[in-house]
Amino acid sequence: MLSAMRGGMSLEFLRAANPRFAMVLGSGLGAIADALGIEAEVPYPQVPGLLASTVPGHAGRLVLVRPEGIPMLIAQGRSHLYEGLSAAQVTAQVRVLHDLGVRTLMLTNAAGAVNTCFGVGELMAISDHLNLTGTTPLLGGPHFKDMTEVYSKRWRAEMKLIATNAGFPLHEGVYAGLLGPQYETPAEVRMLRVLGADAVGMSTVLEAIQARALDMEVIGVSTLTNWAAGITQDALSHDEVMVAGRSVVGQMTALVRGIASRLAAGD
Ligand code: HPA
Repeated sequence: MLSAMRGGMSLEFLRAANPRFAMVLGSGLGAIADALGIEAEVPYPQVPGLLASTVPGHAGRLVLVRPEGIPMLIAQGRSHLYEGLSAAQVTAQVRVLHDLGVRTLMLTNAAGAVNTCFGVGELMAISDHLNLTGTTPLLGGPHFKDMTEVYSKRWRAEMKLIATNAGFPLHEGVYAGLLGPQYETPAEVRMLRVLGADAVGMSTVLEAIQARALDMEVIGVSTLTNWAAGITQDALSHDEVMVAGRSVVGQMTALVRGIASRLAAGD
């Protein structure tokens, strides 16, 4: 049945599954979709408004899975501003997911660790963000949306319990979202620390803003794939980011299953 569905399903099939929960996968996390058991998939070029990704490690498809029996969509691949796209283009995915019925959105990413109390290869629940991209998907409206609690406090507490029960650390901190595509300089990382950042990356903030503007509940989780520039003597590489991303697939899958079981219980 699956082989017949692969590549051939329509968006309406995904809508009919009534997905209320979705996840956007960051670099190196593609295996989560496989770990949860892919039921159907729709490649991005078949979805109006979505673009095939140009970044290695981002597949470019919407996948239907059922952790704990809950219909859930996984957006495997995302667009980034640094690909030369607009804020509206990189957040089209969030609007598509909302249109399909999603109301709880988990955004994941690969990030450099700025806070030296954290560790590479560990996860950080995003408590808040610094949007340093210089743009927003809300240009032209809606205006003046409240951003006091972008990342759901309730789900942060639930994730902490899930991680503790499963026996892995889950940090909490502020994610700074930058334009990229180059990594930061050591001086920029020192600046980010002064500004209150615990981690730095090139995604997530615009999607989170768009999701909140649509009144979705947002959950953010960063994989700390490397020390931000200048913390060690090492140069940064995308390969290192991909390898570290893959190493936390088990932990990230445990978080998803935990969230799904709470959603199944009606939380
Ligand atoms: N900086 C910005 N983006 C990133 C990093 C980083 O160190 N690691 C993974 N994504």
